[in-house]
Amino acid sequence: MSFRAILSVLIFGVFSVTFAEDQMPVLQKSKKISVIGTGYVGLVLGASLAEWGHEVVCADILQDKIQDLQNGVIPFFEPGLNALVQSNVDANKLMFTSNIIEAIQSTDIVFIAVGTPSSQNGAADISALEAVAKVIGENLNGNKVVCIKSTIPIGTTRKIQKLLSSYIDPKNGYVCAMAFNPEFLREGTAIDDFFKTDRLVVGAEDVYVFNMMREMFKPLIDQNTTLIETSYESAEAIKYASNAFLATKISFINEFANLCDATGADVSVVAYGMGLDKRIGPAFLNPGPGYGGSCFPKDTLGLLHQGKELGVALKVVEATIEANGEQMTRVVSKIKALVGGSLSNKSIAILGLSFKANTDDIRCSPSISIIGQLLAEGAIINAYDPMAMNNMKKILPGVNYCESIDAASYNADVAVVLTDWEEIRELDLTHLIHILKKPILMDARNLYNPLTLSQLGYKFDNMGRGKSVVP
Ligand code: UGA
Repeated sequence: MSFRAILSVLIFGVFSVTFAEDQMPVLQKSKKISVIGTGYVGLVLGASLAEWGHEVVCADILQDKIQDLQNGVIPFFEPGLNALVQSNVDANKLMFTSNIIEAIQSTDIVFIAVGTPSSQNGAADISALEAVAKVIGENLNGNKVVCIKSTIPIGTTRKIQKLLSSYIDPKNGYVCAMAFNPEFLREGTAIDDFFKTDRLVVGAEDVYVFNMMREMFKPLIDQNTTLIETSYESAEAIKYASNAFLATKISFINEFANLCDATGADVSVVAYGMGLDKRIGPAFLNPGPGYGGSCFPKDTLGLLHQGKELGVALKVVEATIEANGEQMTRVVSKIKALVGGSLSNKSIAILGLSFKANTDDIRCSPSISIIGQLLAEGAIINAYDPMAMNNMKKILPGVNYCESIDAASYNADVAVVLTDWEEIRELDLTHLIHILKKPILMDARNLYNPLTLSQLGYKFDNMGRGKSVVP
């Protein structure tokens, strides 16, 4: 037993999951990689690794999804992804399969990028991750590096490592080494975020795994991306802390916008002034209807749940979540006030449904809660979104989905902007005022200059910018 292997036993007590020196596969420039899970993270990762020259197979249990991908159909809208996938498929560097066992057995490195959604009590549901780990364990045909990409509670990688080690058969001597490598991409700018990430974080316990990851992500290291090599737990915590902190920044500015409403300050000037302080920074200080998407709501809840389980108070995270829920209700109150107090039979044009611009994703979109509350109070909803209407139709049937901003706004009592799509930001406000039944506008994304709106004759409200301010 080598010294390092002995150390593994001493420190981690799980020798069977780390590589002994004579078991190390030879590091090669181009690697055979499988990615299990073809959501945003998995698909962007797979296509990007292929772009760097690796041989990648993306696998998913959803056969329809794989069939679509094999036919060149990307299951969601993400700018640039279609072209990236297609060029790598054409170059035979990227392929898709629903045969997960085959994908695992034909590759040395397995990335797991399956969903970890919120369960009823807020905890992250890691059952899909455990299921994939079980399949890997049961079908081990050689040494593997298993790298988790999914966002997970702190301590999960070690749990999966233990699960995998229970499948190791001492007779064949195969070993499985783990890594956690969080993804920091945003939907809508995912490709750019992948190739120009601020940092690369790798949680592992084996020098070989760190080396393997460095080789795999060499193009990022060559462009001087900061590399953090740390423990599983610290890497997991970096991801949770980053998302929770960004969510907190949003809830902070949203609450501050409410204070601006009450005092006459303009939150956009306040955010600009704050953001110039390098310790604060200008990003994520745009007030809106609340944060949504598949990450912040889920990860803040998951983090809070983990804190509770461990008896660690995370009061700031708790307040962030609470303020976010209240923000959506605040938008409804503002709409109500604009239309004179009652929403009953009011025709409302909803402009934008996705949780943010440049995506068709509606998961945890503030529009769902806001439209739900408006419908409950008897409003009639005419909605338009450039990309997200098909997804929304599946979960909100009581809405009239319209083909354009004009169609949704025609004869409406009020227009409500919920998503910052360029098309909505650039809409012709002079034209809109003539289409609406009444010139009333709720700008829940602060897209328009309040002075312009006043000059055009709108009755309007926004999130903390005031009703008529100097540009
Ligand atoms: C977020 C993080 O930004 C990524 O770094 C991370 O990798 C990802 O989660 C993840 O964990 O996978 P994403 O959910 O795609 O990315 O979207 P963001 O751009 O962060 O926006 C999240 C929500 O915050 C949206 O509803 C957006 O409208 C809202 N937001 C964002 C604001 O209301 N104000 C802001 O200033 C910024």
